[in-house]
Amino acid sequence: MCGIVAYVGSKPAQALLIEGLKRLEYRGYDSAGIAVMHAGRATVVKKAGRVANLEAELASRGPLAGTMGMAHTRWATHGGVTDLNAHPHRDDKAGIVVIHNGIIENYASLKTYLMDKGHRFVSETDTEVLAMLIGELYEGGEGGLEAAVQAALREVTGAYAICVMCEKEPDTLVVARKGAPLMVGIGAGEYVVASDASAIVAHTTQAFPLDDYNVVRITRNGFRTSTTTNVAVTPKVMQLELDLEQIELGRFEHFMQKEIFEQPAALRNTMRGRLQAEDGKVVLGGLSALAKQLVRSRRVILTGQGTALHAATIGEYLLEDLAKVPAHAEYASEFRYRNPIIEDQTVVVAVSQSGETADTLAALQEAKDRGALALGVVNVVGSSIARETDAGVYLRVGPEIGVASTKAFTGQVAVLALISLFLARRRYMSADQCAAMIREMQSIPGKIERVLEQDERIKKVAEKYCERENWLFLGRGYNYPTALEGALKLKEISYIHAEGMPAAEMKHGPIALINDGMPAVFIANKGRQYDKVLNNISEVRARGGHVIAVATEGDAEIGKVAEDVIYVPEIDEPLSPMVTVVPLQLIAYHAAVLRGHDVDKPRNLAKSVTVE
Ligand code: M6R
Repeated sequence: MCGIVAYVGSKPAQALLIEGLKRLEYRGYDSAGIAVMHAGRATVVKKAGRVANLEAELASRGPLAGTMGMAHTRWATHGGVTDLNAHPHRDDKAGIVVIHNGIIENYASLKTYLMDKGHRFVSETDTEVLAMLIGELYEGGEGGLEAAVQAALREVTGAYAICVMCEKEPDTLVVARKGAPLMVGIGAGEYVVASDASAIVAHTTQAFPLDDYNVVRITRNGFRTSTTTNVAVTPKVMQLELDLEQIELGRFEHFMQKEIFEQPAALRNTMRGRLQAEDGKVVLGGLSALAKQLVRSRRVILTGQGTALHAATIGEYLLEDLAKVPAHAEYASEFRYRNPIIEDQTVVVAVSQSGETADTLAALQEAKDRGALALGVVNVVGSSIARETDAGVYLRVGPEIGVASTKAFTGQVAVLALISLFLARRRYMSADQCAAMIREMQSIPGKIERVLEQDERIKKVAEKYCERENWLFLGRGYNYPTALEGALKLKEISYIHAEGMPAAEMKHGPIALINDGMPAVFIANKGRQYDKVLNNISEVRARGGHVIAVATEGDAEIGKVAEDVIYVPEIDEPLSPMVTVVPLQLIAYHAAVLRGHDVDKPRNLAKSVTVE
């Protein structure tokens, strides 16, 4: 949940590190800090608040000299948001400096041990404990820092991605990982280490991700990769498939807005080469080797958190409806701890944009340990979840930088639809039926474009209601999870209280909330339960609620019962969430902007939740 960038080379490090931090700020933005090594001294500057605060502090001090350093943007776990708790942290003995992403779970006992040894702590963080421990174990000599880091990490439980420097070895950077992402970019005579590729691609496209328990010692002359027990490892260098353009705003004001508008292109990419309408076939290279096993599966468990779980819930409906395989979606955080029963021929599908969500990764590991076949529906290539699964299908929607997930949601639903058709066609679906669904899938990007054309009108709806502090989002069937997603989008970026639920559930309690003028958003497109949704709308209207309906073009009835209607093109119900969610994303986006919030960096949140 924090951003890490480090540099070893011949260029001035400060500018490069600050540029990297800006690209990583979406990963956490409570505070930021930098350490640059020069003439055997590491200068540390850190500030609570955004990277801009750190930049201002650096500007007032004058640039830090040095061509090796590291920087960090924090999402607080241990200790409040203060200058002192910001990273980097130092030890008090050996000139150690550390930045860290993750949580050291046994930090309290380690701290007691280190205090007994006379160490004095200045922050409340677990990271400072790690710095002190490395310092305590540092014995000097050739490879001394590498050995101390390895020894310290053998004592640590929890998750980490770390970068470590030592004033006694001023040309060495040691980095390591367990359970939190970290990669090393290899340039010409220089190395850029970062928690994600977006801070590397401006410098090099050659990189290798660290595996758990890997430690890399980097100098300007080369690098050595080993494990925490000092067994040498040969890293797999790969080509980063990321353009700078993809991680820049271009003509948009916010990444969330850019990513909403990218959805047609992103979904075309998701589907490219995977659909053969003429043969009624879905081709998923990632699953083909396991096709027979998958077809014989008896149960599918889909798991994820937040937006990913909403997509997974749609996946549950799709798999049962189309492929006729029993399926259910469940919060990864619940699944991992509740002693779940995994029968023979169970498949677990981990749904995750980042591929790093701690609960989703742990749920996947739990299911695998109990014998399930593990599939990933992931966006970030080479991420922890992608590597932990037996097989999977990438979203291919490009990097998602806005904290509020948008194009990843539609990408996840699209991939789950593809997997459902892949199985359906091998189980009960005829080639003609499958071909019809494929054509419908292919029409989705164009239909989303028609919704996006209504942006100005949707903004007016947001304007009308954005001062209201309580909203309901209601839908049935496939669009019940869409309602959950609409409510999540609104609350996370506009800080408006919003609840999503099945429309029928309203009468079982929440209807008591409805008072004069409360906005209730209904997903009321044409489908099996359309008439029932109309009844629910009337019930809200009768109690003074304001109804905003997302309805099918040409629906003449809906305008009679709803105050505001946003029309979407007609689409088969199972695939409709990919289209009906778009007005909800835009309402949330505009409401948040109108309320003056930083849409891409909502309070208390970070893009990827790598702690439980
Ligand atoms: O990276 P993941 O898809 O695993 O993330 C899961 C959730 O943290 C994420 O979907 C979160 O709910 C979104 N930021 C909400 O917009």
